Amino acid sequence: MKIAIVGVSGAVGQEFLRVLDERNFPFDELVLFGSARSAGKEYTFKGKKYTVKELKHNDDFKGIDIAFVSAGGSISVEFAETITKHGTVMIDNSSAFRMDNDVPLVVPEVNGEDAKVRPRNIIANPNCTTIQLVVALNPIEKLSHIKRAHVSTYQAASGAGATAMEELVNQFKQILNKEDVTVEKFAYQLAYNVIPQVDVFTDNGYTKEEMKMYNETRKIMHSDIEVSATCVRVPVVRAHSESTWVETETPVSVEAAKEAFAKGNGVVLQDDPANKDYPMPLFVTGKDEVYVGRVRKDITNANGLSFWTVSDQIKKGAALNAVQIAEYLIKENAL
Ligand SMILES: NC(=O)c1ccc[n+]([C@@H]2O[C@H](COP(=O)([O-])OP(=O)(O)OC[C@H]3O[C@@H](n4cnc5c(N)ncnc54)[C@H](OP(=O)(O)O)[C@@H]3O)[C@@H](O)[C@H]2O)c1
Repeated sequence: MKIAIVGVSGAVGQEFLRVLDERNFPFDELVLFGSARSAGKEYTFKGKKYTVKELKHNDDFKGIDIAFVSAGGSISVEFAETITKHGTVMIDNSSAFRMDNDVPLVVPEVNGEDAKVRPRNIIANPNCTTIQLVVALNPIEKLSHIKRAHVSTYQAASGAGATAMEELVNQFKQILNKEDVTVEKFAYQLAYNVIPQVDVFTDNGYTKEEMKMYNETRKIMHSDIEVSATCVRVPVVRAHSESTWVETETPVSVEAAKEAFAKGNGVVLQDDPANKDYPMPLFVTGKDEVYVGRVRKDITNANGLSFWTVSDQIKKGAALNAVQIAEYLIKENAL
């Protein structure tokens, strides 16, 4: 087994190294790729040093079984052919191919088998907010079909990459030192603020991030579910939170919902309000699962349920989900 990471210096790329190590992912060879900026840089994995190669249009991917790609959409588009032409399976973290009919969009807890049909040898990893949402929706969908979901997200700075995370941390330092605040990655200062915009606006008033949640959820769940999202950037370093309301076809009791979450694949139920016990990003950082709490009946709608989820978006929302896809393919002998 020969694997590659493309974009290893980034927030997701670094998480790939941690996740592969943590899960003892079986491989014989690892090749790291980056741009000219990080080519030649060394990373240590399980005591062995690996040097970053510059990603180029050549035959470097010949013999590589799986490439974990997280270098942004334009790089994925430009290099997809180079990466896949010798049979490498490209598991792509960008949004470039997610809605293409001939590219499966996969969250192993929900639709792992879709990864087996991949005419272009590309498998797309969904958007981090969508992964977290569908893992939580899946156990409820098994109780009663979910007709619609309204979601408000509370997205961490690191969702916009390693430099965005640094920008937030620096802003807090600059404010404490009474210095001018540097604002480059986000539209406004994020420290001591929330920004009700993630990605650019589309013609219908929703942002691209919000429309990803609508479209990707339907594709992954093979469902006609309607998703209306408001995506908000908050001054949290890592792990996204989501306040979710769902309307099911038939009423689902709080007890049944909690039981389904507790048994749900990839879900941890953390819901004891009397003891102030609910998921929070500070404590879910570094965890594999989607944490669910504040489960309650909607007082305005007999078929409505509200709950709160938190998940580490660099881990489950990106690197871990991609590695779980690879593990699924190995387990199913479907590489
Ligand atoms: N952050 C998250 O929570 C998250 C979650 C889900 C999905 N994603 C997606 O994952 C991708 C990466 O995100 P990130 O947060 O890790 O971004 P990031 O921290 O900004 O890292 C970007 C990476 O892309 C590499 N890169 C840029 N141009 C390249 C080129 N020409 N050739 C090879 N590598 C190149 C960079 O390498 P150099 O340093 O060598 O230039 C760097 O390693 C994006 O598509 C993003 O939407 C991110």
